Amino acid sequence: MARLNLLEETRYEKLPVSVYGSQQEASLAVAARIAKLIRDKQSRGEKAVLGLATGVTPIGVYNELVRLHKEEGLSFQNVITFNLDEYYPMKPDAAQSYVTFMYENLFSHVDIDKANVHIPDGTLDKDDVVAFCLNYERQIEELGGLDLQILGIGRTGHIGFNEPGSAPNSGTRLVTLDDLTRSDAARDFGGKANVPTKAITMGIGTIFKAREIILMAWSKKKAPIIKKAVEGEMSGEVPATYLQLSDHVEFVLDEAAASELTRFDTPWLVKDCSWED
Ligand code: F6R
Repeated sequence: MARLNLLEETRYEKLPVSVYGSQQEASLAVAARIAKLIRDKQSRGEKAVLGLATGVTPIGVYNELVRLHKEEGLSFQNVITFNLDEYYPMKPDAAQSYVTFMYENLFSHVDIDKANVHIPDGTLDKDDVVAFCLNYERQIEELGGLDLQILGIGRTGHIGFNEPGSAPNSGTRLVTLDDLTRSDAARDFGGKANVPTKAITMGIGTIFKAREIILMAWSKKKAPIIKKAVEGEMSGEVPATYLQLSDHVEFVLDEAAASELTRFDTPWLVKDCSWED
């Protein structure tokens, strides 16, 4: 059950938000929650099924999970992972592939069984994409669903690659990337023209079914979209607003990403202030 916003000063916020002094501090807290989930499941002889994201946002979490593995004996042998998305088309060994990203940042440094790693396949023949996507959903369901999904957020408000216009009950599918998303990826690809126009992504409905959802965002660059996702009206124009309907979601922010929320931007609207000249 999600923590309700019991504080008067968070009354504009439509979902639970935790704000940390720094990205590093927040990443350690999220990694500690993941580690606890993995260990709790281990102690019961169960698998931990994790939904994972790529991008710059979760790197600190993955670094800490690697440290916990190397220095504190955290084992990933009972962990099964499903990544949110992959560019399409994309070769797994390309520098920009999410396969490369995940192995470089996490999987190559921990004891996860590679057979337990699932990442949408960017090499599929177009005719095979639908069957692959249905199977991705089926595999998650057969394992009893995702225990925890971690998310970043794009400046379009996308979660996974569910761009504006995505349906709240959407499943894993092939999508077209928003122009802004492709601009944001241009640096990794040496120019926007090289960024694929499509991707395979878990749907909003897929994400929604996870038993726990943590969306992370850092830096001033994310502040405007965080304001919309947390305080704005729910709408397909900002897909992350659909998370407002979840009772097991939490946004984990650094102070810069939270800076446009009412309680920080115009605090006199939500609490008593002492005015100065
Ligand atoms: C990545 C993903 C995307 C990113 C988002 C933020 O797997 O699904 O939704 O989380 O684009 O990217 P960064 O973290 O690079 O700002």
